[in-house]
Amino acid sequence: MDSYNIFLEYYDKIVRWINSPLEDEVEFLNEQIEKYKWKDKSNITILETACGTWTVAKEFKKLGYSINWLDINQKMIEIAKTNLDEKDLVLWDMTNFDLWKTFDVLFCNYNSICHLLTWQEWQKFFSMSYKHLKTWWILIFDINTLFEFENITRDFAQFYNFWEDTVCLEMFKKSWYYEWLIKIFKKTPDWRYDLIEENVKENSFPIEMIKKELKNKWFKVLEMIDFHYWNVNQESERVYFICEKRD
Ligand SMILES: C[S@@+](CC[C@H](N)C(=O)[O-])C[C@H]1O[C@@H](n2cnc3c(N)ncnc32)[C@H](O)[C@@H]1O
Repeated sequence: MDSYNIFLEYYDKIVRWINSPLEDEVEFLNEQIEKYKWKDKSNITILETACGTWTVAKEFKKLGYSINWLDINQKMIEIAKTNLDEKDLVLWDMTNFDLWKTFDVLFCNYNSICHLLTWQEWQKFFSMSYKHLKTWWILIFDINTLFEFENITRDFAQFYNFWEDTVCLEMFKKSWYYEWLIKIFKKTPDWRYDLIEENVKENSFPIEMIKKELKNKWFKVLEMIDFHYWNVNQESERVYFICEKRD
């Protein structure tokens, strides 16, 4: 999968320093685990799917959890491995994988599920999550809502300056999905700028449709949380689902 290969150089700085600081994300996820399943952290096993450059997983490891990871992007995995002192990172598609074991907690965060463009892929991800979780344990994932994508595609462009380079992010609505256009203006040694472009596709589905599907797959939605304002409503932009695997 080619998405993020060029943007990767700036990914952690934009996502984890500016848009959703790492401490906030880790604190939020840790709180959800403690709220619903309190036990000694070293006895809790986590699988993080779509782990990216391993920034979140690394913090969970520091907190004492036992954690496994997978991602589909070879370059993400390579960067993640520079953060790792072990090699158990797996290059795998979260819609179709088999780790031959079950976990207490499975999470897929920072709207990674939205990188699955079709509803069938979302359904497969829920099935994979069910298969890899222990009964009564939890799946945590978040989405960018359709409301958020519609907003971003209307009138939005973000600019970030890094040293001499500028990164511009814009999103466009395509026929049945959404697409980020990432433009990187990179300063050359002879004081010109190279323009490098990359596209990242995303999609989302109505919250009620997701809830219904989770129920069909034998998950109980324990809570839905608006990451910014807590209460979920029609104008929520980023929504977390905390779900329990039932028998
Ligand atoms: C927005 S990034 C989030 C990364 C990480 N979860 C974080 O919080 O920083 C989305 C990640 O999803 C991964 N991804 C996209 N489709 C995937 C798939 N089908 N299976 C596994 N990973 C996937 C990408 O490679 C990328 O690392």
